[in-house]
Amino acid sequence: MLLKIEDEQIGGNDKLLNSNPIQSGKIKEKQRFYMDIFKARKVSKEIAGVKVLQDISLCVSQGETIAIKGTNGSGKSSLIKLIGGIYEPSYGNIERAEMNIGYVPEHFPENIRFSINDYLHLIAKISGKLEQKINKKIESYVDVFAIGEFLQTPLRKCSKGTKQKVGIIQALLKEPDLILLDEPLTGLDQTTQSKVIKLLQAFANNTTIILTTHEQVLISELAPRIIEVDKGKIISDSFVEIKEKLNIIKAKVPQNSILQELTFIDQKLIEENTVEVKVPFTESDKVLKILLEQGCSIIELKEMR
Ligand SMILES: Nc1ncnc2c1ncn2[C@@H]1O[C@H](COP(=O)(O)OP(=O)(O)O)[C@@H](O)[C@H]1O
Ligand SMILES: [Mg+2]
Repeated sequence: MLLKIEDEQIGGNDKLLNSNPIQSGKIKEKQRFYMDIFKARKVSKEIAGVKVLQDISLCVSQGETIAIKGTNGSGKSSLIKLIGGIYEPSYGNIERAEMNIGYVPEHFPENIRFSINDYLHLIAKISGKLEQKINKKIESYVDVFAIGEFLQTPLRKCSKGTKQKVGIIQALLKEPDLILLDEPLTGLDQTTQSKVIKLLQAFANNTTIILTTHEQVLISELAPRIIEVDKGKIISDSFVEIKEKLNIIKAKVPQNSILQELTFIDQKLIEENTVEVKVPFTESDKVLKILLEQGCSIIELKEMR
């Protein structure tokens, strides 16, 4: 069930509660969101006498991708826990839709005795999803993150990076409505970071994603909405336009006439039997496959600047 409460009903003259990007016309049609899944109004959280969050007013809509940024100790992890229901407010009120949440904690638990294989299958079982389908997913994530050789290793003996990868896999496996990731890139090498970004981009089409980060690359490639926290307060909440990254593929075609088969691709003939194709970064693999299937040979693939 999603929240149907209008801002007025929770008293909302609040600037942040009224920050819906559709109303402010900042988001393209394709990124349109639907219903609100989380609302906080003047929320504070106290733990052992420490105010970890103060006066938080926030509205999250279904389908958004949001980055929470801030320095160490500013309240990023606490805010993500509040959104996910790990923390309940000490003051103020919140509304949270009923949803399936995948949570990637900042630190993966240290003492899990299960092997990676047993752990992921256990998570899969708990998720209640179709076993065969989810087993296939485990296989494919294990493949993507190249952790096949550690499948039988107990998690507590795995490296920090491997634990982090397993932490991400367990959250994505459940096909959640909302994915919360606390510093998902920390401790991962560059290649794995790119893989995580690509995976999240694929999820972003129909899942709400909220992550904390100080990695600028993640923010600029993934999240059009950036919330900045400092001393437990939201100090800014803004939308940026995401520039879609394009690749240029140059390929030799067997004969010019096959271009008629490829009219759905943005392509032009640059010389006899040589075509140049502009394609969104995320679609490159698919288009390369089509070109190869059509008997083309790839001359060059480069990022468009
Ligand atoms: N369980 C806790 N008990 C006491 N203080 C806490 C607790 N969790 C967080 N804090 C304090 O709240 C502030 C925000 O912490 P946190 O949300 O973890 O920040 P960040 O994720 O941005 O580093 C920090 O000053 C931290 O010391
Ligand atoms: Mg943190």
